[in-house]
Amino acid sequence: MTEKQTWSQRFESALHPAIARFNASISFDIELIEYDITGSQAHAKMLAHTGIISPEEGEQLVTGLEQVRQEYRQRKFQPGIDAEDVHFAVEKRLTEIVGDVGKKLHTARSRNDQVGTDTRLYLRDQIQQIRQYLREFQTVLLDIAEQHVETLIPGYTHLQRAQPLSLAHHLLAYFQMAQRDWERLEDVYSRVNISPLGCGALAGTTFPIDRHYTAELLKFDSVYANSLDGVSDRDFAIEFLCAASLIMVHLSRLSEEVILWSSEEFRFITLKDSCATGSSIMPQKKNPDVPELVRGKTGRVFGHLQAMLVIMKGLPLAYNKDLQEDKEGIFDSVNTVKACLEAMTILLREGLEFRTQRLAEAVTEDFSNATDVADYLAARGVPFREAYNLVGKVVKTSMAAGKLLKDLQLEEWQQLHPVFAADIYEAISPRQVVSARNSYGGTGFVQVRQALITARTQVSHEYL
Ligand code: ARG
Repeated sequence: MTEKQTWSQRFESALHPAIARFNASISFDIELIEYDITGSQAHAKMLAHTGIISPEEGEQLVTGLEQVRQEYRQRKFQPGIDAEDVHFAVEKRLTEIVGDVGKKLHTARSRNDQVGTDTRLYLRDQIQQIRQYLREFQTVLLDIAEQHVETLIPGYTHLQRAQPLSLAHHLLAYFQMAQRDWERLEDVYSRVNISPLGCGALAGTTFPIDRHYTAELLKFDSVYANSLDGVSDRDFAIEFLCAASLIMVHLSRLSEEVILWSSEEFRFITLKDSCATGSSIMPQKKNPDVPELVRGKTGRVFGHLQAMLVIMKGLPLAYNKDLQEDKEGIFDSVNTVKACLEAMTILLREGLEFRTQRLAEAVTEDFSNATDVADYLAARGVPFREAYNLVGKVVKTSMAAGKLLKDLQLEEWQQLHPVFAADIYEAISPRQVVSARNSYGGTGFVQVRQALITARTQVSHEYL
């Protein structure tokens, strides 16, 4: 039999040990302990500020809570299963330290508004940290992109060679995704940063509390306007999980490309030994485990988003114990996103190298300059659709003859259309093909250089 619980004298006997274990969240919500202490300190100060307890009592509670924090940090206080959850654990230890006054801490509060406060304080911190990881990821993308403005790489649609690109342009696409992720988190933050403290169990409290005072102490932007909503809202968690899932989508797409690029079929990059592993049986293998793991870990974050949506969809107001299930998914998503961003940043910074020679060859060995022949004609007055059909024909005959467009004689071009002149060769050279796409946001070198400058200023901004 476990010790009798904190709830009340209403209970005659202790919980069944298996049910106590089933009910307890201490094994995971211990993650919230420092936030729980900070939230409780604000609550205690407010109780004193409003005269609900005396200033001395308030002082004792705040100092006692600080001692709990220190004991926890020094591993002297390690709550076990009998504590049920982190909130009871802290209150119990506080009371051991400060005596009966500790029993006043929970005046005008419920674990329902308390846990909501803790989770928001935790997420606020984590969002800031993830945004910092995103900035580092963006910075390494930018560092590499700056070295490769004029390195060309085949661009694909449908995974078929389409048009060549500046490698910097390709990398900057991921920079932009990360930029949106960074901004999205800022937006999510604004809805995480609302205080539910003082909503009580569900209906508010009979005490003359000051919710704005605690909100200010805890640096919340505002307070929930409705107590029922305050204790049972987890929209902010869903929004966070959604933002986390999108980060994973972006990392997973990049991972997929790195995996393809490192394959013998592409050979666009070499993986360095520091970020690749071998096979236990095939001595020639060098495996892209880092991007594979990132791609694989995407699933669990999506899963947590789905789980949270399902937890919420049938819940009547207000707090229900189902909500205890929000934490592990949030914690795991936070840890996964941070670990994946860190690993991808390291992989990019020191784990791979672009094979520029091979890339230069790759962009010359296909028909990805065909659009440029059509554009050449269209720029000289031939209607585009007509030009497109003509080029389709020449691609077909060249393929049959085992030739590329650059191998055609000027007479062959002129037979196709008299407007062709000697400058067609320059027009279809990969460098020119890329350079000519000078429309805003395009891959032309001038555009890419401009985009790099803008991107640099974006990452140099403060992160909040
Ligand atoms: N451990 C609980 C949770 O994580 C704390 C809130 C419990 N509230 C209650 N009414 N039983 O949700």
